[in-house]
This record gives sequence, C-alpha cells and structure tokens, in this order.
Amino acid sequence: MSNELHVAIAGATGAVGIEMLKTLENRNFPLSKLSLLASKRSAGKTQTFKGEKITVQELTRDSFKGVDIALFSAGGGTSKEYAEFAVGAGSVVVDNSSAFRSDDEVPLVVPEINAVDVASHKGIIANPNCSTIVTIMALYPLHCAFGVKRIFASTYQAVSGSGAMGIVELERQVDEITAGKQVSKMVYPHQIAFNVLPHVDEFLESGYTKEEMKMENEARKIMSLPDFKASVTCVRVPVLRAHSIAVCAEFERPVSISNAKNAIESAPGIDLNDDVANNNYPLPLGVAGSDNCQVGRIRQDCAFDNGLSFWVVGDQLLKGAALNAVQIAEEVAKL
Ligand code: A2P
Repeated sequence: MSNELHVAIAGATGAVGIEMLKTLENRNFPLSKLSLLASKRSAGKTQTFKGEKITVQELTRDSFKGVDIALFSAGGGTSKEYAEFAVGAGSVVVDNSSAFRSDDEVPLVVPEINAVDVASHKGIIANPNCSTIVTIMALYPLHCAFGVKRIFASTYQAVSGSGAMGIVELERQVDEITAGKQVSKMVYPHQIAFNVLPHVDEFLESGYTKEEMKMENEARKIMSLPDFKASVTCVRVPVLRAHSIAVCAEFERPVSISNAKNAIESAPGIDLNDDVANNNYPLPLGVAGSDNCQVGRIRQDCAFDNGLSFWVVGDQLLKGAALNAVQIAEEVAKL
C-alpha cells in the first residue's frame, strides 16, 4: 500500500470508535485522510483529531470511495450491511463485530500471535472478541512453552463492553440508588450497579452463551489449534473499563512457575504483575487506559496435572478492540 492511507471509522462516535480515533493519533498512523462515519443521528457532530475538527458523516453505501482501510465498530448488523460496499470500493475492512469471525475466508487476527494471517485477506479481516483477545494474550506465550490442551475460565466484563450505553446505565443506576430512587433498566435485564450478572450475549441451546463459545471457537482459529477446548462462564460486573479473566489451563507438558513467568515476560503486549507478598496483581483500575494486558496470580493448578491458574486483565476497548484493530491496519499497511 502507499505510504499514507485514507482511513474511515464506521461507528466513530461509539465507545470503541472513539478509542480507534485516539489510537490512530497516539500511534501516529500514516494517514492521508480520516473519515468519521456513524448513524444519521450523529451526522454533523465534530470530533478532534491531532488538533483538527473532523465532521462526522452519515454511514451510507457510498461512504467508502477512496478509502484504503475501513475500521468497523458499529455492531454486527451494520458490518453485514455495509462491509461489502467498502470492499467493493476497494477498501480493506477491519471488522470489530462478530459478523465474519467464523468465516473461513476471513482471517481472525491478534497481531502478536498470527500477524502472518493478514496477508491472506480477501477484503475483510476480523478483530476477535474482547475477552478472547485478553485471555490469549496471556495463554499464547504459555501455550508456546507448554502446549495448551484446554481451559476453564470465568470472565469479569466491564460495562463499556456493551458500548457507551453500558457506561450510562451503570452511572445512572449508581446515581439513582444513592438518591434513594427506583432503579431504571435499559441495557441489562437486571440491575448491574452493586450486582454481577452471569449473562453476556444470547443464550444458546447448550446453556452456554454466544460470548462464552467465542473463547473456544476464536482461540482455535487464532492459535491454529483445532482441538483446543474452553469451558467459560462470562459475567458482567459493575466495572467501567477493562475485562478480567480467571483462567485454569491444562497443558501437554509439565509446567514450572519460573518458566511460565519467563514466557510472559518475553512476550509482546503483556506485562507480568505478580507479587502477591506485596498485594500486587492486575486490577481493572490499574489496567484501564493501558495498551498492554497484565497477568498475575500465576500458580500451579491444584486440580490439573500440568496445570496453571492465572488472572489476566486487559483494557477491552484498547487491546480488546481499538488497539488490536489499528495494529491489524498497521499490518495491512505493510502489504
Ligand atoms: P451513533 O452514535 O450515531 O448511534 P456503541 O458501541 O458505543 O453503542 O457505539 C455504536 C456505534 O455504531 C456508534 O458510533 C453508532 O453511531 C454507530 N451505529 C450504530 N448503528 C448504526 C447504523 N445503523 N449506521 C451507522 N452507524 C451506526
């Protein structure tokens, strides 16, 4: 591709879209032009990029003329409706929704793990699920060291994973409770303030949710491990930003804590934060706003042979979404 690229963000006013804009700015992405696209409701609003105001335009089928890379984060329905028009106009689509992730023709990429897959794209590259990205940022280096077979995991997912309205819901409910008012619910089926909900995404016939099965299906594709198994419970917690995942992993080969820590320390994009003697372990409040994920509480699992348990936290709006998408765009720019 040429040195400077015309990039469009579809969903530029959303929780992830805003982070995409900031990430392009922070990483000094080589841009010739930035187009900001959202629904009709947002057309005419402005957002600032590198000190300049850019007017948001309504996303239409004709939005992609001259666009080299289109970053989509406007929901799966919008991706399904508009991605083909972006590809038709010659853009490479990096899609943050789940619309194309299981499509064999569409690479699913975490650049630290499988950047090489970007080159096989046919117009669309999918950005994985946020909890999956954060989990495998820790799991993949351990897999390279010991060979992963299966995991059991529980997620602790922040409300911003439900978009900007998730944040509004939690803050409003906290205000209502402290003012002694009736709690109103618009995003979640139950009160999220001072509560936890074992329910993220739609339930399947198996009893798992769609979100829970993304971990197994997407990790298999990203790590090229068709036999990998994951039994996951996804939980929404009253945290504004950054997802945490408690993981118990079983490996093919014997594990050692020191080799596990070395594997994490030499891996890109993940930091070891594991000093329990001083109460140091990753926390959402400590990780929110950071590019790197953090892993701690690494211990020999007492229920598995060749097992490790650990706690990994990542900013799901950044590494779990916007940052990963921009990193993919950087790989596309190298082609
Ligand atoms: P808008 O702000 O105009 O509604 P979030 O994930 O935070 O809820 O954000 C979703 C993003 O996707 C927003 O930028 C939203 O724009 C955009 N969006 C949602 N539906 C559409 C649509 N049908 N066409 C274009 N953009 C959409």
